[in-house]
Amino acid sequence: MSAATSSPTPGLTLTRPDDWHLHLRDSAALAAVIGHTARQFARAIVMPNLKPPITTTALARAYRERILAARPAGSDFEPLMTLYLTDNTSADEIHRAREAGVVAVKYYPAGATTNSDAGVTDLAKTHKVLEAMQREGLPLLVHGEVTDAEVDLFDREAVFIDRQLIPLRRDLPELKIVFEHITTREGAQYVLAADARIAATVTPQHLLYNRNAIFTGGLRPHFYCLPVLKAEVHRQALVTAATSGSPKFFLGTDSAPHAVHLKEHASGHAGCYTAFSALELYAEAFEAAGALDKLEGFASFHGADFYGLPRNTGTVSLRREAWTLPESLPFGDAALKPLRAGETLAWRLLD
Ligand code: NCD
Ligand code: ZN
Repeated sequence: MSAATSSPTPGLTLTRPDDWHLHLRDSAALAAVIGHTARQFARAIVMPNLKPPITTTALARAYRERILAARPAGSDFEPLMTLYLTDNTSADEIHRAREAGVVAVKYYPAGATTNSDAGVTDLAKTHKVLEAMQREGLPLLVHGEVTDAEVDLFDREAVFIDRQLIPLRRDLPELKIVFEHITTREGAQYVLAADARIAATVTPQHLLYNRNAIFTGGLRPHFYCLPVLKAEVHRQALVTAATSGSPKFFLGTDSAPHAVHLKEHASGHAGCYTAFSALELYAEAFEAAGALDKLEGFASFHGADFYGLPRNTGTVSLRREAWTLPESLPFGDAALKPLRAGETLAWRLLD
């Protein structure tokens, strides 16, 4: 080893990564954000929680065309489409979706988060559909929070594991599941201990911040997302999981753009906008854990392997160079504040 290994890593080159959990929205919002993701990632799993939601293969195909058309000139970014599970989704729809290249189905418990009103009211109602997914090998992506108003907001993920996830996996042991944006030690430990049919995505904000970030020096709405940031022990457990090298954990930003006036509001919308500097944020988290060597597996290999998709070719490079995030970004007629707006980042993705 050369003496250079004792100084800070000057740069980092990774196989082109993918984002396995992304909100792209539609129309002017889509046009405003797609370039950010296309610059960072080769592919992304696009969430179906539009208004109205993407509940059919036909809607998914049309949405895919709008995304492709909104890409910056010359971009080869590939959206991977999902369906939004409802009480009325049919087994036939699952077959059509599979044939059309839809990669997964998203389960939102009704009322759990942004645009989830049409979500599932009772998982038992979807049993036939889940069976069809198990048969077709189509993964179920779960927003893992119970919606029971009597359960404390910070406990909703742990309670979801006991009340829904464990019974679901007992009923349908072959169903592939991604536990999306895990936020707790319970979530990380559950996935790690389970068989290879379940994996989890982890966001940059849940690796970098605990719940204090929402309340430091005043109410900070740009740190508010769902599932909400948790206590420090949970953040540490997520860092341990993401940097462990386990193929069960992979990158999913959950980048969720909302106009600034709807975030800075009496009833502020949930979602952190991280797509603009996603890899930089993850690099910061992995570097703080002394695990930059584990970033490529997490960002570029584990997700593709779980979904049975080819790994990307080509590379992206980051440099250890301080730069300042813009205060705000254009967002149709409104403005969009990236997470850490106006602050300095230690890593920079090179063009
Ligand atoms: C997401 C959104 O805005 O669509 N918000 C969020 O806080 N993560 C929905 C979601 O993934 O829960
Ligand atoms: Zn999401």
